[in-house]
Amino acid sequence: MSQDRQAFRIAVIPGDGIGAEVVPEGLRVLDRLALVSDGELAFSYETFPWGCDYYLRTGRMMDADGLERLDGFDAIYFGAVGWPGVPDHVSLWGLRLAICQGFDQYACVRPVRLLPGVESPLRHATAETMDWIVVRENVEGEYAGIGGRNLAARGTGREIATQTALFTEEGCERIIRYAFELARTRRRRKVTSVTKSNAQQYAMTLWDDVFERVATAYPDVETESWLVDAMAARFVLRPETLEVVVGSNLFGDILSDLGSALAGSMGVAASANIDPERRHPSMFEPVHGSAPDIAGQGIANPIAAIWSAALMLDHLGLPDQAARIMRAIEATTGTGLVTPDLGGTATTREVGDAVLRAL
Ligand code: NAI
Ligand code: MG
Repeated sequence: MSQDRQAFRIAVIPGDGIGAEVVPEGLRVLDRLALVSDGELAFSYETFPWGCDYYLRTGRMMDADGLERLDGFDAIYFGAVGWPGVPDHVSLWGLRLAICQGFDQYACVRPVRLLPGVESPLRHATAETMDWIVVRENVEGEYAGIGGRNLAARGTGREIATQTALFTEEGCERIIRYAFELARTRRRRKVTSVTKSNAQQYAMTLWDDVFERVATAYPDVETESWLVDAMAARFVLRPETLEVVVGSNLFGDILSDLGSALAGSMGVAASANIDPERRHPSMFEPVHGSAPDIAGQGIANPIAAIWSAALMLDHLGLPDQAARIMRAIEATTGTGLVTPDLGGTATTREVGDAVLRAL
């Protein structure tokens, strides 16, 4: 065993539906990298059975001491959560949001790129015009979980609900700073802030003020601020002008799905939920959900999950290995061997095999 052997402990949570189909493909890629590393690289896994089945059996999406058990790992590799029969807010809050918020993984990073051989619904899209990163605030904002429902007091048909967004100056500052730091690693140093301060005069003006203040510390980075509705149109009409796009939890959620669709499919969209301070493990997962409509057929696209594994290696300080996975993904999509979501006929396993060959 060589001296610079690096061993990583990964917590694996396949979750529900196609989560359990795509995660094994990502693990096969990691295992192959370890195999060809001449003993310099090693991954060990512990798999957790948490998800909707677990909930139906135990009444919990994850064990009560789940966060404590996850805390010792170097990273978390996650599939997807959600299944008919368990309300989506129960499954999401009970597992994915519990981990993101519990570990303060405040930076959700979602690259949008057009891979070789993949067709965008945008007529003039190329690899050059389709290459940006959505940075989503991941623990507060509209998903802070503050609010309530008044079920009874007002009488039938008159129920009320409040869903309060929470914006703190610290929360805005750290995610915006993260976006600026990320912009410094990009070919074009530019950050676009997504706002809605014309309609949301409290939270979004705080966001805007913090953005302006943080920007002064990065004179080398170009900045702009766009209203979210106009931003949705710009994703479609002028994607080549985007580089790093930073937004609140809800805006980032919606815009990243739009970006994924423009890049060809939800099946190729990767994401990282990062604790930049590294107090706790970060979590890596495809953007997509459990896709009950195609689950069990073996045709889910594993590219999003495999790309997410590459993001994990980047975070673990293995940028060369991450780049190697990306080249293998590009080689695979480039041959046209793709799953039905991208117009092909390949199965999940066949795409995974092709990525392994390309490695
Ligand atoms: P979804 O992302 O699961 O599916 C949306 C559409 O994209 C479906 O037509 C699906 O077949 C397709 N799709 C998604 N991933 C694909 C892949 N890898 N390959 C090929 N096609 C793919 O979103 P949906 O249907 O809104 O949600 C289903 C469940 O997933 C719900 O319970 C929801 O709460 C949950 N969900 C969980 C997420 C997570 O765990 N991070 C994220 C989004 C939704
Ligand atoms: Mg989403």
